[in-house]
Amino acid sequence: VTIHRSDYRPPEWQVPDIALDFALGLDTTRVGAALSVVRHADAPAPLTLRGDGLTPLAVRVDGESWNDWHMAGPDLIVDLGDRARAIVEVDTAIDPTANTQLMGLYASNGMLCTQCEAEGFRRITFHPDRPDVLSRYKVRMAGDKTAFPILLSNGNCVAKGAGDDGSHWALWEDPWPKPSYLFALVAGDLVVNRDSFTTMSGRKVELGIWVRAGDEGRTGHAMQALKDSMAWDERVYGREYDLDLFNIVAVSDFNMGAMENKGLNIFNTRYILADPDTATDLDYDGVQGVVAHEYFHNWSGNRVTCRDWFQLSLKEGFTVYRDQSFSADMGSAPVKRIEDVRLLRAAQFPEDAGPLAHPIRPDSYQEISNFYTATVYNKGAEIIRMMATLLGPQRFRAGTDLYFDRHDGEAATCEDFVRAMEEGGAIDLTQFRRWYEQAGTPRLKLTLSEDQGQWALDVVQTVPPTPGQPEKLPMMMPLRIAAFDRSGGASLPDTLVTLTGATQRIALGAFDGRPALSVNRGFSAPVIVDFDRAQGELAWLAAHDDDPFARYEALQQLMLDTLVAAAAGNEVDHRAVVDAVAQTLRGRGEDPAFVAEAVLLPSEAFIGDQMLTVDPDAIRRERLALQAAIGRALEEEWRAILAGKAPPATDLSPHAKGERRLRGVALAYLAATGIGDIPALVFGVFSDADGMTERQAALATLAHGDSDERAHALDIFYQRYRDNPLVLDKWFQVQAWSMRPDTVEAVRQLAEHPDFTLSNPNRVRSLYGAFTGNQAAFHQADGAGYRLIADLVIALDPRNPQTAARMIPPLGRWKRFDEARAAMMRAELERILAQPGLSRDTTEQASKSLLG
Ligand code: ARG
Ligand code: ZN
Repeated sequence: VTIHRSDYRPPEWQVPDIALDFALGLDTTRVGAALSVVRHADAPAPLTLRGDGLTPLAVRVDGESWNDWHMAGPDLIVDLGDRARAIVEVDTAIDPTANTQLMGLYASNGMLCTQCEAEGFRRITFHPDRPDVLSRYKVRMAGDKTAFPILLSNGNCVAKGAGDDGSHWALWEDPWPKPSYLFALVAGDLVVNRDSFTTMSGRKVELGIWVRAGDEGRTGHAMQALKDSMAWDERVYGREYDLDLFNIVAVSDFNMGAMENKGLNIFNTRYILADPDTATDLDYDGVQGVVAHEYFHNWSGNRVTCRDWFQLSLKEGFTVYRDQSFSADMGSAPVKRIEDVRLLRAAQFPEDAGPLAHPIRPDSYQEISNFYTATVYNKGAEIIRMMATLLGPQRFRAGTDLYFDRHDGEAATCEDFVRAMEEGGAIDLTQFRRWYEQAGTPRLKLTLSEDQGQWALDVVQTVPPTPGQPEKLPMMMPLRIAAFDRSGGASLPDTLVTLTGATQRIALGAFDGRPALSVNRGFSAPVIVDFDRAQGELAWLAAHDDDPFARYEALQQLMLDTLVAAAAGNEVDHRAVVDAVAQTLRGRGEDPAFVAEAVLLPSEAFIGDQMLTVDPDAIRRERLALQAAIGRALEEEWRAILAGKAPPATDLSPHAKGERRLRGVALAYLAATGIGDIPALVFGVFSDADGMTERQAALATLAHGDSDERAHALDIFYQRYRDNPLVLDKWFQVQAWSMRPDTVEAVRQLAEHPDFTLSNPNRVRSLYGAFTGNQAAFHQADGAGYRLIADLVIALDPRNPQTAARMIPPLGRWKRFDEARAAMMRAELERILAQPGLSRDTTEQASKSLLG
């Protein structure tokens, strides 16, 4: 069944109040729900309560046993006659241990927890379960005191007590009306790291991060991130927290990163636990970013929520933009921008260019879980960022103030957000709205021209066709440019141009000869720029542009041009790239983090994206050749970087993180040279490492080769961390990332390892997710990589359809590959679709991927 955005109808019944009563058990949890329902339809209408795998054990209306109900498939339809309001009570029972989907109420490591977004609440009890039905919740939870000493839900704990049978209970009340997807409950044996935060109006909020005993020492970074986020949202958006309590619980079995349930965020352990011995600098940044993201949802998502799931980007795009801005403020803004753009290009551009392309506000879906995508999240964030750029900080803030004030307590739409921007920012965004409607990454074709010493830039904008959208209209976007006179004459300073037309001419002014053009500075618009530039011009920009992001882009473009030419079979000269890298490395003392990002070669996937037909083997060969050339030519520099003392792992300043990142890059360049003493040198770094950043970088470097040091290091790492699931994930991951020719076979064998399990999504991603990111291995010419992933999808789908469906998109990129590979990829998609009883999640992704 396909759901269409245009079919939206307001709910016929609202549910202003809900009382839930849980009798908790790992195998059986009994749920009593009392819904006060109020009719909003003018005429009598039956009450439809959505269910998923539930059986009603008893139905009562206004206290009386009730027989006027029937099931319509999984849903419960209650006939309430001509009543305009009623109290509808339904009893159900569920088995949390059997819930391997990790949606609804499930058991993880002996504790009970929930995940309700998007449509998991209906797996707990019958309910309208749509985000435009907001209720005040009262939750009573009771259970065995030994198994579940801690009982948590949303809002405030208003009463608790003990039964005489070893049970105890707690009563939680959340004063803020919320949609069912924000409901949460946790019961288990947990310890807490407590702290507090005083808000700008003087409210003291008790903060708690709940983890399993033994993990509490690894929650300090998350707690600091939470307090920083609370202060930041007050300072930057004027948004204050609104309850006396804010709890976070970390669970190891979780489909996604984390969930913003009101007052009770539930997190994947991966985004809470961090200490220098077990977490890398990137892991630390992930914790900070996700803690902020979920906290920021309290306003962008909870106080103002979504009318329907087509509006998902309203809360996700905006909240990603907010967490990106926060992380930029907490660390190095240019480096954060580079990382965000790299992610957009790696995850979102391919989505936009493939069979699963959809606008940030989709028009239809079969399974909403499939739309928690890089497009909705990360491109969504770019759309918000463009509005912020067009408006400037003051007017953008006026727009967000208006949005929050006007829609507080409501379920809003993307249109509501854009209208608030228009009114608060005094701007006409009529054309800009196309970003919500049209899928596909726009392309800007640029040419420079000169007339009597006056230079101009011509821009031709096209938006490629995507499934269901053959014709496209030009988008409105902010394009930041600058132009430099390379001989030192006057330049055109940073200028913001608003593009609106399919073609547009921008006057640059007078220059003596062709200026060096800096374009899409700071990545002001999420587009692909086609602009032919000589190596010398790119090298000059890489060294001299005053926008760090543009310097990074120039060097990346120089590398990319070289690699694409080489992979297409052309003779190339590595010298220009080597010189530009050498030049960039000279700035490493000042800003090692930026330098480390800038000298990193583009990923194999990104090189492939520039080719008409992706040739994975040629890309790997040529990228390694360039890496080796840079490694050899600058061998002394790389060795010097490694000879210096590494900053202590406990030093998490941007500078220290940057130094470690650069040391990791140096290891990779040296290893590519194949010089004899390198494995021993890398092993030395591995052994001497005082923290996980260096240790993992060295291990990942060794994992590409076949030295004795490789086997030795993998073994040491495994023995040391076999009892730490998050670190063991890294052990699987570095092997799945390996550039060795036997990686497909290695991954197949790792799936048989006693520590591998399909029931933990982190473990599945660490092996198979890493593997699909290993372009040359996944696309091995005999199709073994495709078979491996299809086998996984088939095995995982009955257990966890959401995570299974997320493994399909790599197979859907068949159009970009040669006919032999494409045929094998399609055959695997067909084999998946032929499985009986396939989930809606996997069916939607596989069938759309096959269409191409
Ligand atoms: N709202 C959560 C977040 O982005 C993600 C929840 C995803 N849930 C799902 N079933 N796909 O912070
Ligand atoms: Zn989110």
